[in-house]
Amino acid sequence: MNTEKSIIIGCDHAGYLLKEKIKTHLGSLGYTVTDVGTDSDLAVDYPLFAVKLCDRIKSGEFERGILVCGTGIGVSIAANRNKGIRAALCTSVELARLCSQHNNANVLCLGGRTTKEDNAYAITEAWLTTPFEGKHHQRRVDMLDQIQC
Ligand code: RB5
Repeated sequence: MNTEKSIIIGCDHAGYLLKEKIKTHLGSLGYTVTDVGTDSDLAVDYPLFAVKLCDRIKSGEFERGILVCGTGIGVSIAANRNKGIRAALCTSVELARLCSQHNNANVLCLGGRTTKEDNAYAITEAWLTTPFEGKHHQRRVDMLDQIQC
């Protein structure tokens, strides 16, 4: 398991620019960032990058990850198909705090075409620094992995 200051990040072409900015920002905050790509704005398929990132959280190598696509919607749908992944698409600091407090979200999803960089930094920091509240929320989070449809 990597340390608390390690994080994994991935994106598609529409999330590439914001992903690069977040990487730099997290680096300045002392995080070690592992990047699973993509590495340019050439069109790629976002599910592939969501899977790459989620696999390394499911294996226990990382506790948390960030996924960026155009809207954050595609990567959040893809990530949430993985058992043990609780991906939250956040567009505000309030959502970022709540997804940590109540959902113990281990993947933050952002929209490269919809979220300005300063807001994305504030969202990311709120998500990273807000603790999970546990208690009755833990029971509900546990229930998520039992859902089989
Ligand atoms: C790519 O054009 C775009 O569809 C993708 O980045 C994402 O927004 C999908 O949800």
